[in-house]
Amino acid sequence: MSVPAAAPESSPPLPEATDNTASPASRLEQGEILFFPQLSFDLTPAEQALLNPDLVERKRKNISFDVQRERLSGVVDPDQQALTQQLLERYYHFSRQLVEELIPAYRGQLRQPTTSLRVHAIADWAQNSSWRKDDRRLHVDAFPSRPLHGDRILRVFSNINPKGQPRCWQVGEDFETLARRYLQRLRQPNPLHTWLLAQLKITKRRRSAYDHLMLQLHDCMKADGELQNGDSARPMAFPAGSTWICFSDQVAHAVSEGQFMLEQTVLLPIEAMEYPERSPLRVLERLTGRSLV
Ligand code: SIN
Ligand code: FE
Repeated sequence: MSVPAAAPESSPPLPEATDNTASPASRLEQGEILFFPQLSFDLTPAEQALLNPDLVERKRKNISFDVQRERLSGVVDPDQQALTQQLLERYYHFSRQLVEELIPAYRGQLRQPTTSLRVHAIADWAQNSSWRKDDRRLHVDAFPSRPLHGDRILRVFSNINPKGQPRCWQVGEDFETLARRYLQRLRQPNPLHTWLLAQLKITKRRRSAYDHLMLQLHDCMKADGELQNGDSARPMAFPAGSTWICFSDQVAHAVSEGQFMLEQTVLLPIEAMEYPERSPLRVLERLTGRSLV
């Protein structure tokens, strides 16, 4: 992959373009973002017309598509559902092919795909969010209703902004440094509480101790003014027409600017990793000295 022309001096720096010096699995698994500056996901003219915040139901952050159940959610106008579904299905195949070509060892191991289209400008969306849902604050991803029991959250992102606007992120310190900082504040789950959440179907299955710790880590980071206002994070700008991949449960990230993005989430069991010891589950187990699933 070639490096794009240098950004103007006032813009955040571009991430380093992905090269072949270490294996993509090794780089991803140690918390790097794999960046493909020239890999654009192109929309047809008809799909371009979908790029409008009014496409999504009020109060929703994104439109989402479950390819396995063929279930699309969040599109207001029934007349736009088929085209939106077609776009998201295409993106699912694009991102899956990308990951499987880059890392053949992950082939056949990627589970529970969810594809999403984000149409809101970050500033418009985030100003109405609670601090917990505000992705402008540095965090690692954790799912409140979908317990992962250690499975990895692998995400592919493509900036499809039609006006050439970048998507701007801040990327924080490595996972272990952050986990050590908050470890003393992380509490063990209350078994009655996790049982009740599952019984009431608030969670899709019972939360493991791992899920409980990751949710607290997410919250502790977002609530920590010192972390949010400090200078430990690096700015990165992903230009329109670029694609990037990371384990978002490991890479501390915050989004500050941008509009219109496609995102593919897949789960990966840690047994499929080249270096499972680098997973958040194994790092937290080592730091706490306990088994967490
Ligand atoms: C996130 O996953 O925190 C949001 C990333 C983005 O919207 O660019
Ligand atoms: Fe996130």
